[in-house]
Amino acid sequence: MLSSKRILLVIGGGIAAYKALDLIRRLRERGAAVVPVLTRAGEEFVTPLSVAALAGAKCHRDLFDLTDEAEMGHIELSRAADLVVVAPATADLLAKMAGGHANDLASTLLLATDKRVLVAPAMNVRMWLHRATQRNIATLRADDVRFVGPDEGDMACGEYGPGRMAEPLAIVAAIEAALGEGPLAGRHVIVTSGPTHEPVDPVRYIANRSSGAQGAALARALRDLGARVSFITGPAAVPAPGGVAVVRVETAAEMFDAVRAALPADAAVMAAAVADWRVVNASGAKLKKDGSGRAPVFEFAENPDILATVAGLSEGRPRLVVGFAAETDDVVAQATAKRLRKGCDWIVANDVRPATGIMGGTENAVTLVTEAGAEDWPRLPKDEVARRLAGRIAEALASGGAG
Ligand code: C5P
Repeated sequence: MLSSKRILLVIGGGIAAYKALDLIRRLRERGAAVVPVLTRAGEEFVTPLSVAALAGAKCHRDLFDLTDEAEMGHIELSRAADLVVVAPATADLLAKMAGGHANDLASTLLLATDKRVLVAPAMNVRMWLHRATQRNIATLRADDVRFVGPDEGDMACGEYGPGRMAEPLAIVAAIEAALGEGPLAGRHVIVTSGPTHEPVDPVRYIANRSSGAQGAALARALRDLGARVSFITGPAAVPAPGGVAVVRVETAAEMFDAVRAALPADAAVMAAAVADWRVVNASGAKLKKDGSGRAPVFEFAENPDILATVAGLSEGRPRLVVGFAAETDDVVAQATAKRLRKGCDWIVANDVRPATGIMGGTENAVTLVTEAGAEDWPRLPKDEVARRLAGRIAEALASGGAG
């Protein structure tokens, strides 16, 4: 909840400004007071009237207005808030912030504020990737400005890539986290996700069919409850969520190193489909047919079991360690045995027989196996499974146990 929190919301000039209207609604639903500031460019995308109507408050506009200054000067405006949020933050606004410009109301109050600033960038992918923008972002991060997004995906301009503004609920979660709210605020959760790729030679690898959808949904749900999430992902088919620390890896060994580097954590949720074996005699050069008809012979070695290792740590073990079990038969019996074998607290088991359509699909039917027994959940969208599991993780951490 954000009751009695006051958010100063600067709406920049980008097509994503329409999402700022939804953000205002979501913030007010949670009890926050929203003080909106609309830049001149922002007015090209949303009207001051709709902003004011949704905020239930005066929309401060980027005009030097004597009445405004008499009512509430820009200095006071920037200081009376608990948090300053810029959404959408355009490349231009970020450049102004990084350069310390103060040539309109938005940039002036951003320079004058003594409060934490959270920005939700939104721009064309090329503009986002441009060195100038990346330089400005590095400067702003060093100045302790927080970022949420941008997300990767289709853009209004028809291109694809990073640059889409984070979704309003992700921004709400980042706001809660910045204000120290949310049941998982102050908690660090590691999530592994996606498949791993084990190279055979420089161009070929052994992989599996995991899309990474359930792991990404989990990272999002945990983030939305205020957790700081380290998202360690193999080469997944779905984009990584915004607002989490993403570490991209390829092999199981790299994932293991990344997990160790991310510790300590309050909880670890291992949703990745990690390869059990790697090819030890992988070739440094591309393998070629030599005309003899002989096929290459690969020698395998077992990969480290990340879940079992983390669950078995005598020092620095996360309080709650959750594993996944994709099974094709005897799901509950296998998962129950796996929980004990791996030494983890919970196992989220699912039936991945091709007929279920779960692997690579949008729905999941899971059984949660804990010390208390097995709980069948109904077939639900992966996002909903993630929300329920994140809720249970928050409860378990709050109660001090692994329940
Ligand atoms: O043994 P199995 O692969 O079925 O166990 C699945 C669980 O173990 C998943 O949570 C997966 O992320 C984890 N795992 C792991 N490291 C491995 C193999 C599996 O963390 N090398």
